[in-house]
Amino acid sequence: MKQNLLLAVAVMIGFTSSLFAQSPKGDAKAGKAKYDLFCATCHGATGKGDGVAAAALNPKPRNFQDAASMGKKSDADLSKVIKQGGAAAGLSPIMPPWGSSLSDQEVANVIAYIRSLSKK
Ligand code: HEC
Repeated sequence: MKQNLLLAVAVMIGFTSSLFAQSPKGDAKAGKAKYDLFCATCHGATGKGDGVAAAALNPKPRNFQDAASMGKKSDADLSKVIKQGGAAAGLSPIMPPWGSSLSDQEVANVIAYIRSLSKK
């Protein structure tokens, strides 16, 4: 009897921790606020890669509205570039690392927002 109870508790703990282990679910609306603040200068207000700073950049920031190219990127790919910067993913080093300015939740929010741009 006591063993059954212990087993039930162990199963519950396992279940709860597996819930928390999942990567945070992004909130696109919250992501837009951070995007407008940190990303739009290069990536453009609507994600086309045409921000005010983009004219001087080569390569240009990716067009986030291009569903075909964005579809090839997993959330893990995007998260790595955003947190560690372009150089860490073999892209332009002009793309800065944001891992110290954005929490994992905020990165997930920004990804949700970027994804929403190519779903129109
Ligand atoms: C100083 C300009 C600049 C800023 C600011 C900037 N980026 Fe970038 N970003 C770039 C450039 C340049 C690239 C790389 C393009 C390439 O090499 O193909 C890039 C690449 C990326 C990629 C990879 C796209 C792909 O196709 O894999 C993502 C995702 C991204 N940026 C997200 C962000 C987010 C989110 C922010 C704001 C938190 C941000 N960027 C801010 C310039 C910038």
